[in-house]
Amino acid sequence: MPGVKGFISFEGIEGAGKSTQAKLLSEYLGAKGHNVLLTVEPGGTGIGQKIRSLLLEPQNHMDPVTEILLYYASRAQHVREVIYPALLKNTVVITDRFTDSTIAYQGYARGLDLSIIHSLDEIVVPDLKPFLTFLLDLDVEEGLRRNRRAQKEDRFELETLEFHSRVREGFLRIAAEEPERVRIIDASRGPEEVCKDIMRIAEEAWR
Ligand code: TMP
Repeated sequence: MPGVKGFISFEGIEGAGKSTQAKLLSEYLGAKGHNVLLTVEPGGTGIGQKIRSLLLEPQNHMDPVTEILLYYASRAQHVREVIYPALLKNTVVITDRFTDSTIAYQGYARGLDLSIIHSLDEIVVPDLKPFLTFLLDLDVEEGLRRNRRAQKEDRFELETLEFHSRVREGFLRIAAEEPERVRIIDASRGPEEVCKDIMRIAEEAWR
């Protein structure tokens, strides 16, 4: 399935700086005259926000199947209520995480069979894939350190280092399979340097 032009995602491990960079790109494209919608998964809608709390509250011990279904429930609402309508109006949609996160976290790290994810994709997002994905790549320990400094502590930050290493490797495998769509960005640098790379790639992708 080809990516949908105007649909961009940011991916990466905890603490890689996705949210900051997604915001900077949305401001940059907005200043260039595009209508831009910046959104997030899990979340992006009222229902999605409630599902996000269920997913991230550290006290919620959750079966992996419950977990993946909640991510897809959030996504189903998100694409129908927000993403499809925006794309139909030629708005550029930038999402902080999308399906690649499910492949990396629930697939490669949690160990669910990737065929489950592909089946859910066919039901929930049959024709929707980003045309450009920025994978902010960073050493796992550094990412977790950054999040601790920001006092961010959710259910995933409590996972082991091995879990987060599998997430990182999962993302890198996705990028190796789809190098045209998924651009690896070295996120160990300062935000300004990272941002320059992202803007250059976004410009090229639009030509
Ligand atoms: P974040 O938006 O603050 O990064 O938090 C979202 C968390 O949810 C993060 O730890 C990654 C995780 N996640 C999944 O496990 N699967 C998914 O499909 C998505 C979108 C996020």
